[in-house]
Amino acid sequence: MSERSGFLITVLVALAVLIVELISSPLSGRAEPGEVPNIMPVPRAPMGWNSWNSFSDTVDSQIVVRQAKALVASGMKAAGYQYVLIDEGWWLGHRDAQGNIIVDPKQWPAIEPREKAGDMSNIVQYIHSLGLKAGIYTDVGEYGCGFTGPDIGPPIPHTGSLGHYEQDFLQFTKWGFDYVKVDWCGGDKANLDPAVQYAEVARSIAKAEAQTGRGLYLSICNWGRQSPWTWAPGIGNVIADIWRTSGDIVEPIVAGGPHVDRRVSLKNILTNFDAGMHPFAEHTGYYNDLDMMVLGMPGSSEEDNRTHMSLWAISGAPLIVGADLTKLTAQEFSILNNADVIAVQHDALGLQCVKVSDDAGLQVWAKPLAETGRRAIVLLNRTDSAAPISVFWNQLGLAAGRAKVRDVWAHKDLGLYVSSYKVTVPAHNVAMFVVYGADAKPTEYKPTVHSHDTVFDRVAASGTSFVRVAYKNTGLESLVMELRVNGAVPTRVSFPPTKSGGSASIMIEAELKTDKSNVLTFSPPCGRSPAIDSIYVSSW
Ligand code: GLA
Repeated sequence: MSERSGFLITVLVALAVLIVELISSPLSGRAEPGEVPNIMPVPRAPMGWNSWNSFSDTVDSQIVVRQAKALVASGMKAAGYQYVLIDEGWWLGHRDAQGNIIVDPKQWPAIEPREKAGDMSNIVQYIHSLGLKAGIYTDVGEYGCGFTGPDIGPPIPHTGSLGHYEQDFLQFTKWGFDYVKVDWCGGDKANLDPAVQYAEVARSIAKAEAQTGRGLYLSICNWGRQSPWTWAPGIGNVIADIWRTSGDIVEPIVAGGPHVDRRVSLKNILTNFDAGMHPFAEHTGYYNDLDMMVLGMPGSSEEDNRTHMSLWAISGAPLIVGADLTKLTAQEFSILNNADVIAVQHDALGLQCVKVSDDAGLQVWAKPLAETGRRAIVLLNRTDSAAPISVFWNQLGLAAGRAKVRDVWAHKDLGLYVSSYKVTVPAHNVAMFVVYGADAKPTEYKPTVHSHDTVFDRVAASGTSFVRVAYKNTGLESLVMELRVNGAVPTRVSFPPTKSGGSASIMIEAELKTDKSNVLTFSPPCGRSPAIDSIYVSSW
């Protein structure tokens, strides 16, 4: 064999090895030295419909059936909306001698011939038969909102779960529900501590899940009281949850009801958006809930609808629609079902947007997306006149050079732009884009102490800081750890399984000081913990 053909064979063998390695790499990626392991997708914020805003406490089986059908027929299901959520009014506070919930058989009749009236599994099975998921509602306290602040009906006592947590959450899972919204009216009235109470709720849910093998997604609804973003993420070690950050955008508007003059306002939509900005808490499957969307309800214009959808999507907030789905126009459904906008809300990184700049009400909001170098942008003009708003690549942690800009509402690529993009935004309106650039290189840190805790110290930052955490979790379940930044109140971070022993990474935004002295400590709250290999820090 000549020297040349020997060399050729060596090259071919090396190529074959490389190809085999590439093909057999786990989905989560196997990091080569100096390479950042691939992003692990995290649980997304829920999307669906909720009965409260348009039906208040008049909700019943017929209403839910009609809305579920409309959710499918309108293309919302195909666009990703999957939950049908029954809110307050479903239960009139009655229990039997053993404390089991009794519901009104007329309100919840049989749907199929062999079913018994007065059994909530009827409606759940109907919802499931459409390929959708079902949600239910209760209160932390003994006297729920139906007693402390009824909307239409007379005050109804005892519509909360206090004293019955284990029994009620078990009942919800036995009925087949997939989701529970737990309100705070009764807890507030009785001066309870939400962090303590919701931890108890989470523990009872976990017990019910273990008993029935059915997951029950936790939606915390205490309207931002006692800063839920500091205690709600991962409460009771749940691997995904949401928490409300403010009051209701609008009181219910029930067609033909006593409050038909109530109106949605852009002002309230913006107030809830502002109140929900807690990006340090929103990561790895935990989300700030800005309230149900009021898009398509009385008082909301086409522009307001688009602004509302843009803001909820860039925030990564739950997209739960409160309108009567049988009444929405094709135009309103086209806003709700815009795939490019939903992709921003549903991005695998699961992060919230951050405010990049604010020039007297001309604001730039940006959300990092899972694909390298990709950012979603909302330019929000809160002033009374149209004005140009600019966004600069270096404000987004992107390397200098050309980046593609895509208008997500128009579904149109606008071309390549060097270092910035500028557009005139009408008064009280938004423009929304995705920018496709190149990430500026992050700085890698290795842990300095590695026993019970994993500590990274002398971490440098200069502004809005994103921390990508490279880890291995070879188990089958997500593992939750506490992250303490510079000794402050910790946040819980969830680490999904990485499969096949490979490494993966998740990303969080951390509140770092603009110097070189930051300390990040990861601690396992109990039991197993993932192996944290390194962190990669980038500041915008
Ligand atoms: C609270 C919640 C609403 C709704 C009502 C029901 O106000 O914030 O979303 O659930 O209770 O009474």
